Amino acid sequence: MEQEHFSHRPVLLRECIEALNLRPDGVYLDGTLGRAGHSREIVRRLTTGRLVCIDRDQAALDAARERLDGYMDRVTLVHGNFGDLAALADRLSLPPVDGMLFDLGVSSPQLDDGSRGFSYMHDAPLDMRMDQSAPLTAATIVNQWPREELRRIFRQYGEERYAAQIAGAIVLARESAPIKTTFQLVNIIRSAMPAAALREKQHPAKRSFQAIRIAVNDELSAVDSMLQAAVPLLAPGGRLAVISFHSLEDRIVKNAFAGFAKGCTCPPDFPVCICGKKPTIRLICKKPIVSREAELEENPRARSAKLRVAEKL
Ligand SMILES: C[S@@+](CC[C@H](N)C(=O)[O-])C[C@H]1O[C@@H](n2cnc3c(N)ncnc32)[C@H](O)[C@@H]1O
Repeated sequence: MEQEHFSHRPVLLRECIEALNLRPDGVYLDGTLGRAGHSREIVRRLTTGRLVCIDRDQAALDAARERLDGYMDRVTLVHGNFGDLAALADRLSLPPVDGMLFDLGVSSPQLDDGSRGFSYMHDAPLDMRMDQSAPLTAATIVNQWPREELRRIFRQYGEERYAAQIAGAIVLARESAPIKTTFQLVNIIRSAMPAAALREKQHPAKRSFQAIRIAVNDELSAVDSMLQAAVPLLAPGGRLAVISFHSLEDRIVKNAFAGFAKGCTCPPDFPVCICGKKPTIRLICKKPIVSREAELEENPRARSAKLRVAEKL
């Protein structure tokens, strides 16, 4: 493995490569190119095969040309949202795919780039768009969404205990002046939380920032649409591997996989099946694959990663 060349360490790299069951002449799709950590390991195992790489962040595609230097004859780069996977596949006239990987969430370079507004550790304009050509920014959400909508996203996407208090504090603050920067927002979030919560190990703004990021990028709907589109695009025996980083995403992946793997859904007292539902995948592992101790030691981000793998029937 060559991951030591990169500042961004691909999570569960070895496990993903194993899960994809790569064939040198196969067709593969990396739906979350990022800094091409996984893509590079996939493409270097291909000869006559092809790798389609998607990212909604143009910066990822620009950087990938360098990271994938020497392999670009086997790569197709696509700027797009994997939530539109069916349409993208149609546009590319994609043949049946032998393996797809989705490593969800933000990349380390997105978090580390102070100007993108993803991080509560850097002061920056409130942005958080993965696709910088998309219209909705964190500033719009924070300054214009109604209090109830803010409370809902903090509760639902951040699983934040103090959702109502934080939404209230934001609405109060923006009555005096627009909230423009990440640090202004961090201070407002802090002001809404009790002293005991501020002493917890986790940064007080972590959950609220996660919630706003999910809303800005409509992340959960994209995962749902992607899963529905991915299975029909796979060749028989093709693999689908998805890495999630929080319970909301993992629940969507787990439930979708369970639904695809299940056959007849008729009530048990029906004498014959009338639904006609057949399983379309089999689960490669019942429980999600998590990082080994050695990976956790060198990459703390891997701690919350869960990899689920399925095979098309
Ligand atoms: C965790 S990073 C992937 C890192 C990559 N596997 C690597 O090793 O370098 C996730 C990437 O997926 C992209 N992304 C997230 N959601 C997306 C979506 N709905 N459509 C397309 N790209 C998306 C982000 O812009 C980010 O670059």
